[in-house]
Amino acid sequence: MDLYEYQARDLFEAHGVPVLAGIVAETPEEARKAAEKLAQPLVVVKAQVKTGGRGKAGGVKLARSPQEAREKAEEILGMDIKGHIVHRVLVAAGADIASEYYFSILLDRSNRRHLAMCSKEGGMEIEQLAKERPEALAKVPLPVTGIDEDVARKILAQAGFEDEELIEKAVPVLEGLWDVYQGEDATLVEVNPLVSSEEGEIIALDGKVTLDDNARFRQPAHEKLVDKRTEDPLEAKAKEKGLNYVHLEGQVGIIGNGAGLVMSTLDVVAYAGEEYGVKPANFLDIGGGASAQVMADGLDVILGDPQVKSVFVNVFGGITACDQVASGIVKAIEMLGDKATKPLVVRLDGNAVAAGRKILEDANLEQVTMVETMDAGAAQAAKLAAGC
Ligand SMILES: Nc1ncnc2c1ncn2[C@@H]1O[C@H](COP(=O)(O)OP(=O)(O)O)[C@@H](O)[C@H]1O
Ligand SMILES: [Mg+2]
Repeated sequence: MDLYEYQARDLFEAHGVPVLAGIVAETPEEARKAAEKLAQPLVVVKAQVKTGGRGKAGGVKLARSPQEAREKAEEILGMDIKGHIVHRVLVAAGADIASEYYFSILLDRSNRRHLAMCSKEGGMEIEQLAKERPEALAKVPLPVTGIDEDVARKILAQAGFEDEELIEKAVPVLEGLWDVYQGEDATLVEVNPLVSSEEGEIIALDGKVTLDDNARFRQPAHEKLVDKRTEDPLEAKAKEKGLNYVHLEGQVGIIGNGAGLVMSTLDVVAYAGEEYGVKPANFLDIGGGASAQVMADGLDVILGDPQVKSVFVNVFGGITACDQVASGIVKAIEMLGDKATKPLVVRLDGNAVAAGRKILEDANLEQVTMVETMDAGAAQAAKLAAGC
């Protein structure tokens, strides 16, 4: 999960990284009040969208009075920045910037380690810096223990920092940012720009943080960082029910057991659907021990997608045998009642397949069609979704 700048700012503050005062506003009037409260000669009104380059796009504007902050917020709210609509602004104290630097910590997956990147040339986009002046960007692999004073000094030295006073100030900031990265289970902490002010202070002026969703279970406080406004309602519902679901654009709902099988089901449905102009509507892996409840929850989420016209249930019985899955389908349809009227194509194979098919045959459900193979199922589901 990517965070908004204001959320990153709050995490920085909580870990002792110096940031400027800031207040979030959703309307121009709130922005005026925020500026009044900050009582600074200069404030900055900043679009809160999960994309970079806001400054260049006109989403970061200076204001010298609360009234001006109001006007700037009016210009910025509702703006479209690279496809992201601005619903909020951060009204932040203005900094007296002496220099802008770049600093980040990220999970370097291909080398299986954490990596720090640092440059004396901040402000511009890092991709551009890496391409145009790679020598100006220090890349320092981190030990598993992260950033302590020695490591921080090494990073700064590699980036070309020489002024001892500046280094003294920057070291604890780098340590603090490691604390954010590790303590919050982040996979990215990026500060661009990290600035030194005219008074010689080091301040994180912008923040980009990506949290590791796989660590959510041990970070209950992160729940409140989820932006309900931009979260897909079907994915939110699935998450609540503990389902492994990804919403896609198509018309054929997919349920399978095992991520590999579900992915290949998506492929065959996409292929079969070409002829009819239909596509898979989702990824849903109901996993190993699929109970009737899990099947009902899965069907409930998929059938709640108004785009879905048919569902393909593709299960290979393993530890959960086909008879259990078949009972699950029957019970799920019972539980969902009127909500389960769309056609269901079911392919069962593997452990106890004969018993499973018998259960479905005996139940004689009008919405269920049984097929023998995955390809036949995909073709049938695609056809039904197209209304043929
Ligand atoms: N609080 C602030 N005070 C003064 N200048 C700022 C402040 N915040 C941002 N800026 C200026 O605006 C530029 C862009 O802002 P930033 O937050 O980095 O947004 P983005 O990276 O999305 O363009 C910064 O490089 C900095 O020069
Ligand atoms: Mg920036």
